[in-house]
Amino acid sequence: MKKNIISSVLFVGILFLISNISIINNKEAIQTMKLEKNNSTTLNKALESQNFKEENYYQYTEINYIDKENFINNINTLLALKYTTTEINDIFQNVNDKNISKILESPKLDLKNYYTIKNFEVEKIPRYEEYQQKNNCSLEEAVLKVNIGLDHNFYSEIHQATELNNYTVLVNKYNSLGNYEPQDLKSLSYNSKYQLRERAANAFEELISFAKLENVYIRPYSAYRSYEYQNTLYNKYVEKDGQELADTYSARPGHSEHQTGLAVDVWSEGYNYISENDAYWLQNNSYKYGFIIRYTQENQSITGYIAEPWHLRYVGKDIAEDIVDKNITFDEYYDLYLKN
Ligand code: DAL
Ligand code: ZN
Repeated sequence: MKKNIISSVLFVGILFLISNISIINNKEAIQTMKLEKNNSTTLNKALESQNFKEENYYQYTEINYIDKENFINNINTLLALKYTTTEINDIFQNVNDKNISKILESPKLDLKNYYTIKNFEVEKIPRYEEYQQKNNCSLEEAVLKVNIGLDHNFYSEIHQATELNNYTVLVNKYNSLGNYEPQDLKSLSYNSKYQLRERAANAFEELISFAKLENVYIRPYSAYRSYEYQNTLYNKYVEKDGQELADTYSARPGHSEHQTGLAVDVWSEGYNYISENDAYWLQNNSYKYGFIIRYTQENQSITGYIAEPWHLRYVGKDIAEDIVDKNITFDEYYDLYLKN
C-alpha cells in the first residue's frame, strides 16, 4: 500500500518535471524561432504579432497563411472553439468574410458539408437543416430555397429590397420595394401612358422592332405601376376573387416588379392576350434584348405566381442570357450570383 502511494507521488512528480522542462524548452524554442527564420509564414506572423499565444505554437505551423485582418487573433479564437487546424484551413479557404465573423461568434459548428456551397449563411444553418429534413432534398437545394425565404409562407417574412435602382433589383413575395419610385421613367412610343425606366424602355423598343422583322407584332398594355396604383389593382382583384386566388396572379402593393419600372406586360397586336405563337417567340428571343419571362409554369413554387408568358422583366442582356442558359428563376439567380 505504502509502496503504491510512494510510486504514485514519484510518478506525478516526474510528470510535473517533464512538463516544466517542455515549457522551458518551448520558451527557448520560441526565442530561437524569433531570431531564426522558419518555413511557416503563419508562425512567423504569429511571432511578430501581439496576439501570439504560446499554447498554439505548433498549430500555427499547420495553418496556411492568408493575409487577412486579425488573422492570428482569429486563429486563436477558432482554436479556443476547438476547431482543428484542418478545419481552420478549410474555413479560411472556402468561407466568405461575413460568414467567418459569424463563425467566430458561435459555438463550434460542423461546416464540412458547407465548404462547397458558396451562398450559405452561417446564421441560417438550423433552417437549412430543418428544410433539408422536411423536404428530403440536397443541402445545396435547401440553402437556396431557405435563402429565398421558401421555408416560410409567402409574405410572412418580408425584407426591404436592396439596391432599388439596380436593374437587377429583386422583388418578390419576400422582398418589398416600399414606396420606391424610379426617377428615370420614359414613355413608350406605342402610347405615352406606358412608361419604363429609360434603359428598359429603349431595350423594349428594340425588342418590338426586331419582333416585327420576324412577323411578330406585340404591344405593351401595362408597364410602370406606382405603389398606389398596384394597391388599387390588388384590392380590386381581392374583392373579385378573394385574397388567396388574387395572390396567385397579382402582387401585393410594394411587391410588384411593375413598380420598379423594369417590367412590362405585352399582348399580341389586335388582341387582348398574348398568342401562343408570340409567347413562344418571346421565350426564345426576349433575352437578346435584356428581358426574361419572369413567371413560368415550372417556377410557380418559387415565385408564387401562375405562369405569365406576357410579363417581361428587364435585367440587362448579359444577365438575361445567363439566366436563360442556366434555366433557373431570377430569385435563384439573384441568390447564387448577384446578392453579394
Ligand atoms: N402580375 C404580377 C405578378 C404583378 O402583379 O406584378
Ligand atoms: Zn406583369
